[in-house]
Amino acid sequence: MYSKKVMDHFMNPRNVGEMENPDAIGEVGNPTCGDLMKMYLRIENNIIKDIKFQTFGCGAAIATSSMITELAMGKTLDEALELTRDDVADNLNGLPPVKMHCSNLSADALRAAIEDYKKKHH
Ligand code: FES
Repeated sequence: MYSKKVMDHFMNPRNVGEMENPDAIGEVGNPTCGDLMKMYLRIENNIIKDIKFQTFGCGAAIATSSMITELAMGKTLDEALELTRDDVADNLNGLPPVKMHCSNLSADALRAAIEDYKKKHH
């Protein structure tokens, strides 16, 4: 049901945990299942220098967040804003359709964190 890549990111999530003194935080809930996601950003010259996530979400939420942190790392804020749940799913070699809403959680949390940063520094 899950690709090898999903299992790898689920068993060994990248960039998981809390960040001290982040430049921005994004927090979202998933209306479909009620799960929660928090994403922390460290930003220098408009580039994502570090990113971490914490989630009360399912295995697919963990895998998609792990993947989106890898995709976002080193990108400019505008490039990172363009990441969609489909980019995440594609890079994980697909997600079961019933789990696509879980990847919204990671894309939305990243977007919320970037918007938080833009609000503070415009
Ligand atoms: Fe809630 Fe996957 S079931 S994030």
